[in-house]
Amino acid sequence: MLRTRQGSGRTVLAPSTPGPVESLTARPGALPPGTVDLRATVLPPHPDLARTAAEAAAHLAEDPAWGRAPADGIPKLVEQICAYYARRGLPTSPRQIVVTSGAVSGLHLAVRSVTAMGAQVGTENPGYPNTARVITASRRRAVPIDVAEDHAEALIGAVATGRLSAAVLIPDFHNPTGRLLDGEGRARLLRAAARTGTPLIIDETLSGINWRGLPAPPPTAGGGASTLLIGSLSKSLWAGLRIGWVRTSEELADALSHLRLGVDLGVPPLEQHIAAGLLPTMTADGVPHCHEHISDSWELVATTLTELEE
Ligand SMILES: Cc1ncc(COP(=O)(O)O)c(C=O)c1O
Repeated sequence: MLRTRQGSGRTVLAPSTPGPVESLTARPGALPPGTVDLRATVLPPHPDLARTAAEAAAHLAEDPAWGRAPADGIPKLVEQICAYYARRGLPTSPRQIVVTSGAVSGLHLAVRSVTAMGAQVGTENPGYPNTARVITASRRRAVPIDVAEDHAEALIGAVATGRLSAAVLIPDFHNPTGRLLDGEGRARLLRAAARTGTPLIIDETLSGINWRGLPAPPPTAGGGASTLLIGSLSKSLWAGLRIGWVRTSEELADALSHLRLGVDLGVPPLEQHIAAGLLPTMTADGVPHCHEHISDSWELVATTLTELEE
C-alpha cells in the first residue's frame, strides 16, 4: 500500500490499481468493479428533506424579487444560522454571516480576507486534504502543524509563536483523527491567538457529527481573538445542498462579502430555502439525525478490521 522512494516521499497504492490514489479528485476515473471508494464520505439525507424541498419549490414562483437575492444569503437562512449559534451559546447578528457554496468556498474567502499573498498559514498535519489545497491555491504557504502526539498542545504552541499569518484548524471532530478539542484547550488556543494577533479560521464542518453524544464544547470564538468560523450543512443535513457560511466580525464579514463578488453572486435560493427549513433541527449538542447509521457503520468497520487482523 505504501511505496517509498528516496527524494520523492511516499505514495499510497491501492492493491488492484496500477497508479497512485489521489485523495480528492474533481474528475475521478472509473474504479475497477467491486471497488469501494472511501475517499469521500456522504451521509444519508435528513428525513424531512423531500418534504421541505417540495414546500420550498411550491412557493418559489411567488417570490416578488423573482429570484434575485443578496449574494450574502437570503435573510431567512441567515436568521436561522444566527439562531443556531445562539443555541450553541454564541450570540450572532445577521451582519456577521456570509453564506457560501459549502465550507470549502468559505475557507477560501476566509484565507484570502485575512492574509496576503505568500503568507504562512498553519494547518494540522495530518489534516483534511482540501485545507492545504485551499491555502496553496490562494498562493499562501501551508505550514504543517504536526498533531500526531498532543493535538491541543501542538495547535496552541504553533499559534503562540506568532509566526503564522493565520491558522486553519478543525477543533470539532478533526478530519482524519476524529479528535475533539475540549473547552479548556479552546480557551488556551484563543488566548494564544489574541496575544499574537493570529486570526483563527475554524472549520466547523464536522461539529454536527457528534454521534457518540459527547458534551459539546463551546464554539472556538471569543477571548479577544479574531476568529472566522466556517460552517457547513454537508455533514449535518444533506451533502447535496452545498451550503456553508462564514461567521466573523461585522468588519471582516463586509470585507469577505466584497471579495466573494469576484467569485460568485451567491448560492441558489432554492437550496437556501430548503436549508432554512431544515436548520432548526440542528441541535446545540451536534448529535446528527443519522447517528444510528453512523454508529452501525462504525461497528461494522471496526468488527471487520478486527476480523481481518486476527
Ligand atoms: C473538515 C472538512 N471541511 C470541509 C469539508 C467539505 O465541506 P463542504 O462540502 O461544505 O464544502 C469536509 C468534507 O469532508 C471536511 O471533512
